[in-house]
Amino acid sequence: MSHQPPADQPRTFHVKSFGCQMNVYDGERMAELMAAQGLTATQDAAAADLVVLNTCHIREKATEKVYSDIGRLRKDAAAQGRARPMIAVAGCVAQAEGAEIVARAKVDVVVGPQAYHNLPDLVARAAAGVPALDTDMPTASKFGQLPARRRVGPSAFLTVQEGCDKFCTYCVVPYTRGAEISRPFEAIVDEAKALVDAGAREITLLGQNVNAWTDEGRGLHDLIRAIDRINGIARIRYTTSHPNDMTQGLIDAHRDVETLMPFLHLPVQAGSDRVLRAMNRSHTRDSYLRLIDRIRTARPDIALSGDFIVGFPGETEADFAETLSLVDTVAHAQAFSFKYSPRPGTPAATMADQVPAAVMDDRLQRLQAALNRDQHAFNAASIGRRCTVLIERKGKLPGQMLGKSPWLQSVHLLTDAAIGDLVEVEVTSAGPNSLGAVERLRQVA
Ligand code: 5AD
Ligand code: SF4
Repeated sequence: MSHQPPADQPRTFHVKSFGCQMNVYDGERMAELMAAQGLTATQDAAAADLVVLNTCHIREKATEKVYSDIGRLRKDAAAQGRARPMIAVAGCVAQAEGAEIVARAKVDVVVGPQAYHNLPDLVARAAAGVPALDTDMPTASKFGQLPARRRVGPSAFLTVQEGCDKFCTYCVVPYTRGAEISRPFEAIVDEAKALVDAGAREITLLGQNVNAWTDEGRGLHDLIRAIDRINGIARIRYTTSHPNDMTQGLIDAHRDVETLMPFLHLPVQAGSDRVLRAMNRSHTRDSYLRLIDRIRTARPDIALSGDFIVGFPGETEADFAETLSLVDTVAHAQAFSFKYSPRPGTPAATMADQVPAAVMDDRLQRLQAALNRDQHAFNAASIGRRCTVLIERKGKLPGQMLGKSPWLQSVHLLTDAAIGDLVEVEVTSAGPNSLGAVERLRQVA
């Protein structure tokens, strides 16, 4: 099939990211990369010369969604009387599908998560009329080849680790993101300093298995302690963690490091040992609960978050009841829950006893009811608490600003504080998804 060459080198671009925070980070870095090439960012995707779809492959019909997005984009552009935009598919669908996307949707560029530093090159090749594909996973890191960070909001992401060696039987990540790789200590600390210089007060360290980060014997807690020493940093967070990589050093950091926020996203996925074994999670219900006890001893007010999958192949009603009872025991501050979605190429996709959709729907509803109950209770228990809020944006009402509590709750308050300020507040009301507060003190820090 012939490929229609885009008329010219693109001058404007739009990056659209789906899925996890690591994709958001990658999307920001791709945008910085294109801006450094002299391209201008636009808000309206259909009006851009180049659209980067930074895709996610973790669940559902992700691939089909990408194809329908491409179709819609071309229709919208045509409705504006424009020639079709150049389209680059990036992210995990690009990695998983590769040349198939060029064949099927005639996109211009396909670039995997480990190769996007080559985007300008690929775009130039595509502009010359040849579809360009790069899904290599080079050993040399892309990070050293990206432009420096310049302007960021008060809360910034920083990828420190990528990939996963755990091979949970339902998960595509080890295939799309590759083996676990940690960025070097110095490079991360330098980027953290640059982020603070560029306006960040809070940094969230990212990795598919962020607490497996390591460099020359150092662990994530060493990195956290180094970032804590940067002048101007107010808050540190990290996500996502695996229970088996939750070291004593990291638990101690939650006790000792004031800027490390009392929030932990620690997915457990299921409450039944039989299911955990079939998932190849390599922890048990009991080892997880004992770990939670140790973490709560170190940091009693910690807000726990997690991920759950219902309807994993072979999950019985009795197995599911164990998930509900684990939820009752832990009382999460918030959590994400998903219906199991067979991912092509993963071991679980071909396991016997796939659970019918109606059963999954029912279990998801019951699980979410329990998680919502706990989230609301956690928020309600915050009323009367004094805490800091990092102001992130304007609210809907005049004079209203929105920010986050240390426990990652959204907080709205009336204040003349600016974006990036830390204010001390007293929480006065709680809803299922946010808190209301009144200002008590402006921090001059
Ligand atoms: N089906 C449903 N949920 C999944 N997750 C990962 N793979 C699947 C799948 N095949 C969920 C897990 C993981 C989160 C990022 O996505 O709960 O922690
Ligand atoms: Fe996927 Fe398991 Fe690795 Fe998490 S730990 S990314 S769920 S394989």
